[in-house]
Amino acid sequence: MRLPFIAGNWKMNKTVPEAIVYAKQFRRIVEDVTDVEIVVAPPSLAVHAVAEALRSSNVGVAAQDLYWAREGAFTGEISAPMIREAGAEYVIVGHSERRTYFAETNASVNLKTCAALAADLTPIVCIGEKLDEREHGETFAVLDLQIRTALEGLAPEQVGALVIAYEPVWAIGTGHHATADQATEAHRHIRRRLREQFGAEAAERCHIVYGGSVKPANIRDLLAAEEVDGALVGGASLEVESFAEVVARSRPATV
Ligand code: 13P
Repeated sequence: MRLPFIAGNWKMNKTVPEAIVYAKQFRRIVEDVTDVEIVVAPPSLAVHAVAEALRSSNVGVAAQDLYWAREGAFTGEISAPMIREAGAEYVIVGHSERRTYFAETNASVNLKTCAALAADLTPIVCIGEKLDEREHGETFAVLDLQIRTALEGLAPEQVGALVIAYEPVWAIGTGHHATADQATEAHRHIRRRLREQFGAEAAERCHIVYGGSVKPANIRDLLAAEEVDGALVGGASLEVESFAEVVARSRPATV
């Protein structure tokens, strides 16, 4: 059975001291939650401090990006082994903001996903269509290309351990979340493709989570949608109370 997976992507928010205060408060509020897999993704400068503040807790830590080489002359970049050593267990790969503003491609997402897996990090691989692609009926074609390229060369066991975040670009930061039907349609399609390409077991184990304007007010409806295994939360993860509320409302007994 797939436990709900709820991750907070802080994007470029919070200084190290702010991140530590958040982590210490948050771990206390969610300490009894054993039926949700919880992750926070601070900016990379705060990954180590947040991992320390969350040590021996039920909250994991993700970095928001990585570079695929292990080390070398790549000014400004950080590698998967560095992230792992800093205390994170997850890394977000291919977020649409990286694709839009920093020229991330499906091919680079593949290199990063492979590098993360090689360093024993769980990649949270982001895919999703833009508004004009949806309006032109290209949603499934876009998802197909993203899945096929980003996961190329992965073994079924590796795909089974992944988190795939379906984040329709038009829903990110806009207040317009996908409806439960739209989420189900996309997630069902993604799982079908995983089944075709990597087999039934990998497709069953893989978490497919939804992202885009998730809030305490809509998390229950989204999680009740078929094939939605959790959420990648942006704005609503920035305050301890609202993110803790998203987690509380994701507990299986409450959905
Ligand atoms: P919002 O929840 O702010 O729409 O952001 C979603 C997102 O991009 C998470 O990665």
